[in-house]
Amino acid sequence: MCGIVGYVGAQQAAPLLLEGLTRLEHRGYDSAGLALLGGTGIKVAKRAGRVRDLTEGLPKRFAGKAGIGHTRWATHGPANDVNAHPHADAKGRVAVVHNGIIDNAGALRQRLADEGVDLVSDTDTEVLAHLVAASEADTLEGKVGAALAQIEGTYGLAVLHADFPDRLVVARNGSPLLIGVGEREMYVASDLAAIVRHTTTVAHLDDGEIATVTATGFTTYGGDLRPVSRIAETVDVDPASYDAGEHDSFMHKEMVEQPAAAERVLRGRLDDRFGTAHLGGLNMDARETRAIRRVKILGCGSAYYVGQMGASLVEELARIPADAEAASEFRYRDPVIEPDTLYVAVSQSGETIDTLLAVQEIRRKGGRVIGLVNVVGSAIARECDGGIYLHAGPEVAVASTKALTNMFLGFTLLALQLGRVRDLSIADGKRLIAGLERLPAQIQEVLDREDEIAEVAERLAAADSLFFVGRVRGYPVAREGAQKFKEISYRHAEAYQTSELKHGPLALVSEEVPTVAIVPDDELTERNVGALHEIAARRGPLVVVTHEGVDLGGVECVRIDVPRNERELDPILLVVPLQLLSYHAALRLGHDIDKPRNLAKSVTVE
Ligand code: G6P
Repeated sequence: MCGIVGYVGAQQAAPLLLEGLTRLEHRGYDSAGLALLGGTGIKVAKRAGRVRDLTEGLPKRFAGKAGIGHTRWATHGPANDVNAHPHADAKGRVAVVHNGIIDNAGALRQRLADEGVDLVSDTDTEVLAHLVAASEADTLEGKVGAALAQIEGTYGLAVLHADFPDRLVVARNGSPLLIGVGEREMYVASDLAAIVRHTTTVAHLDDGEIATVTATGFTTYGGDLRPVSRIAETVDVDPASYDAGEHDSFMHKEMVEQPAAAERVLRGRLDDRFGTAHLGGLNMDARETRAIRRVKILGCGSAYYVGQMGASLVEELARIPADAEAASEFRYRDPVIEPDTLYVAVSQSGETIDTLLAVQEIRRKGGRVIGLVNVVGSAIARECDGGIYLHAGPEVAVASTKALTNMFLGFTLLALQLGRVRDLSIADGKRLIAGLERLPAQIQEVLDREDEIAEVAERLAAADSLFFVGRVRGYPVAREGAQKFKEISYRHAEAYQTSELKHGPLALVSEEVPTVAIVPDDELTERNVGALHEIAARRGPLVVVTHEGVDLGGVECVRIDVPRNERELDPILLVVPLQLLSYHAALRLGHDIDKPRNLAKSVTVE
């Protein structure tokens, strides 16, 4: 949601900013805009629609060597040209782009209107431009600081001012902002993806900080405008990982990358000698680990469903009561925070506001939170007491695949470590380690069946509505399968416990409503097969994701077999075919796989 990019240096800013905005498209947006600072002051171009529309509609002479750009996801006011960012003050001497939400925008708009300011947009951001313009401070950082002192809420923002043509000022509070250092040129961005082709030397702002950025350097200030030292560091990232390469979409590329990503999250963390995992980032010794009486996992969307898989792993391996809850609901029920509960926040982006606010709520009440996060240095990662980085590499597609797989593996490592300081035997620990080591190659085996799964997907794409069902370990798999199908195929896909089918949903099963059933080889196989017969008896088309050799009792169905591993690790091998099913159904339906309608990669507003 919402993206920021900025540039100051010797080159023309517009092409660099447009390229940066294109790189941010996957985050989800509905309008885009640029402001440039040239010889004649500030020029703004913005419009509803895609970055492509903005590019095509740019005025001929649109030049300047400093500029800011934005992709907007509408919050205050509809997606139209006027509400698109950047926003300017009445004289057009200040331009602002902003991510986040200003909570007291209503009161500020009223005050400005009473003072005779003509507000042209419906947005909260516009007030910032007027407040910066009205400040009598001598410096641009002083003016921005004075404006920010009047607002409540969250922001990542960048400001241009015609009186300070050599600089941008940026600030952060709850919404990421980084500065990229180039050769006598500087970039700013809300996400490294926007600038990674130009520099990988970056400095992240902390909440409450402001920075002045010129072509030759930057200075960072605390909220009191006293300089604070912040050193740019070169991040170890391959810019090519932000390109889809030979793949038709990032989702496809990211599915294919899963075996390699899985190896990365396991690397150096398995201890075969003691049959355990080493997770140095948890910042807990054996005594503290043993004192945990309960595990509570919090995440949103796919991260929530994989959290349910993680809770099962913790219960099975460590015999600690564990459950997962949607982070978006957690804080609103005034949760009881227990000192001997380990809270686990799980998030690819590390930016999801609902998850971040849940973490803050827990910490405010004295709870201990660890993060399972992919993006290093992200807000959730920084807010937690410790954690496990997922090392999946950048994930661009909205539909999470490789990050989800690595979340599952992160939970396995956590459960293993928690289990081994309790009753999990060394033999069981070694059994699981051997299973984990086999997993990347087995994920590859499933991926190699893509053509076969694509055929099944074609049939599913024809249905308007379908069920995904599973039991116990298979239920979160079904939920994740339904989530993916909804996200990118826009078909109504509903997940149920197989055991609950007969308590209601069976009424909907018919020739037109297929069911995707998760039937692993486990203690419930026989019962699951019974449910398959109930569905088949009502002529419901069936796709069964199961293990090689499982006897499905002659039920009429299309089966997709996955390799066997240790039972505890089943979910991830069962999930991969569901990713391929959704992907091929969406492809068949002609949808934009990486940018599904109405969705954003990172949901940074409540
Ligand atoms: C959004 C995306 C989901 C994703 C969720 C959590 O809702 O559309 O696909 O699972 O955010 O994202 P996170 O970055 O916290 O894992």
